[in-house]
Amino acid sequence: MSPGLTYDATIATITRLVPDPGLHNPRLGIVCGSGLSTLVSSLKNVVQISYSKLEGFADSTVVGQKSALAFGYIGKDNYPVVAMLGRFHPYEGYKPATVTYGIRVMKRLGVKDVIITNAAGSLTPEIPVGTIVVVQDHFALPNLTGMSPSFGPLMSKEYPRFLPLSDAYSTRLRRFAFLAAHKLQFPDDALAEGVYAWVSGPAYETPAEGRFLRSAGAHVVGMSTIPEVVAAREENLEVIVLSLVTNLVVIPDTYRSIKAEVKAELAGLPIDRPEIGRASHEEVIAVGILKTEVMRCLVERVAELVSSEKPTV
Ligand code: HPA
Repeated sequence: MSPGLTYDATIATITRLVPDPGLHNPRLGIVCGSGLSTLVSSLKNVVQISYSKLEGFADSTVVGQKSALAFGYIGKDNYPVVAMLGRFHPYEGYKPATVTYGIRVMKRLGVKDVIITNAAGSLTPEIPVGTIVVVQDHFALPNLTGMSPSFGPLMSKEYPRFLPLSDAYSTRLRRFAFLAAHKLQFPDDALAEGVYAWVSGPAYETPAEGRFLRSAGAHVVGMSTIPEVVAAREENLEVIVLSLVTNLVVIPDTYRSIKAEVKAELAGLPIDRPEIGRASHEEVIAVGILKTEVMRCLVERVAELVSSEKPTV
């Protein structure tokens, strides 16, 4: 099926399965990352459609992620939203077109703004576990080396061939995030700003890779989100990315020297053998669940600020 026909089929299915016409044209899209799908509890009159019923969608195979598209109203003003509960990653074997499909469907439903959440590892002790990083820029090693979602023929001539990304992250939505944190009386260090490095994964970084990403200017690292950001910008949507720090990337200042340890052992001297930390998906999910309420309140408040905004002339 050509992409155009798939979109038509997906939208026809949504229209058939969502009884309330008020939800057929959501204005805000939300993408929920690892352990963050409980954001759906912010929605009223919610209707969930399993991805398996939706043409063009695949199944999220990652533990801690659901596989459904949710429609509902958020905030005091009942702003209509669509939320992806679970996303697709290239490391699951999905093509960029599948990874970005949900974003392109959002655009065709009428979405204007997208809030993308994810779990990320921190590359600096200044951004501890539990912090939400409002992403201000990214670098994407896969995009720089041939895995960009924009590779291939243009979908149509309305799409930019050379997409500018210097303004990828909406200043308007980022302002709302900090205003929302203030209204919610979050402590100052609950929210930080930083640069997200996208890696293809699925292995966690080696210490040398972590050090490399840090020295290249990234503050957090993750295996998702950037294909969606690129697609959203191609679709002319405004984007904000909220990265929940679920673990510190293991970047020891020095390595254990096994050579020195053997020398000490042979000389009968005491040896200090420090254990090296390890990232784990269980830790990522656990922090996601622990902080889901904070993320939920923040997303809800941002949505309220978006919905109460006066249109600019
Ligand atoms: N590295 C890459 N992706 C991640 C991490 C990490 O440490 N934590 C959560 N997603």
